[in-house]
Amino acid sequence: MTDAILSNREGGILTLTFHRLDKKNAITRAMYTAMAEALEAAAADDTVRVAVIQGDPTCFTAGNDLMDFLSNPPDMTPGAEPAPVVRFLDILRDFPKPLIAAVAGPAVGIGTTLLLHCDLVYAGDNAGFSLPFVNLGLCPEAGSSLLLPQIVGYQRAAEKLLFGEPFSAEDALDMGLVNRVLPPTEVNAYAQAQAAKLAAKPATSLRVTKALMRQSNTEALHAVMLAELQQFGNLLRGPATKEAISAVMEKRKPDFSKC
Ligand code: COA
Repeated sequence: MTDAILSNREGGILTLTFHRLDKKNAITRAMYTAMAEALEAAAADDTVRVAVIQGDPTCFTAGNDLMDFLSNPPDMTPGAEPAPVVRFLDILRDFPKPLIAAVAGPAVGIGTTLLLHCDLVYAGDNAGFSLPFVNLGLCPEAGSSLLLPQIVGYQRAAEKLLFGEPFSAEDALDMGLVNRVLPPTEVNAYAQAQAAKLAAKPATSLRVTKALMRQSNTEALHAVMLAELQQFGNLLRGPATKEAISAVMEKRKPDFSKC
C-alpha cells in the first residue's frame, strides 16, 4: 500500500495521480505496484472506459526512484517473479482501453517512455522531457528503443537517446510525441475533459480501434521490451550506473573515464 499514487474512479474514468512531490514524484516499487494493480483491475472492469495518468502542474515524475533502484535492482532473470516496474510496463503496453497522459513539469526517464504507450498525451508548456539512460550508464526501457524511432523518426530518436538531454513541450509537439500543449494548470482538466468525451463513446469500438492500430507492432514490441530488460538489468549492476547515481545524489558531475 502507498499513498504516493492517488487512484480515483469517476464517470467511467480511472485517474492515477503521482503524489510524491517532495521527491519530484520519483517512482518507487510500491508506486509501480499500485499503478499496475489499478490498471489491471481497470482493464477487467467494464465500468472503467478510459484511464488517465497525471502528475502535478509543477511535476509529472522524476522517473525511477534512484535509491530504490540501486538498493533493490529488479531481478530480470527469466522465470523470476516480475519486478514491479515490469508488471507496470506490461499492463501499460497491454492496456486495452484508451489511455491518456497529462504531463506538466519534468518527465524524466520512464516519465517520458511511459508516454509512448499512451494513446493521447497532453503537455503543459513547462513540461521537460528526458531520456537520460546513457548518462546513467543504462539503456532505453519500456520499448522506447522501438517506439521512439517509430514515432519521431530514427535520427531524432537517436539524438534524444544518445545525448539524453532534456527537451521542451514545443519540441515534443513538433516531433509528434504530444497531441497538444497547454498552460500547466489546465493540463489535467483538459485531459479529464477529453477522457469524458471518450467515456461517452461506444467502449467496444474504442477497444477494437486501439487493438487494430497496435496489432502490427505487438510481437516486435514484446521482443524488444524483453531484450531491453535484460540489457537494463545487466547495466544496472555495472560501474557506470553506480557512478552516475552517486553523482546525482551528491549533486556532482559523474566521472565515466573508467567505465
Ligand atoms: N529518485 C529519488 N529521488 C529523487 C529523484 C529520483 N529519480 N529525483 C529527485 N529526487 C529527490 C532529490 O534527491 C531531492 O530530495 P531531497 O530534497 O531529499 O534532497 C528532491 O527529490 C528534489 O529534487 P531536486 O533535484 O532538488 O529538484 P529540482 O527541481 O532541482 O530538479 C529534477 C528536478 C527532476 C530535474 C531532478 O531532481 C532530477 O534530475 N532528478 C533525477 C532524475 C533521474 O535521473 N531519474 C532517473 C531516470 S532513469
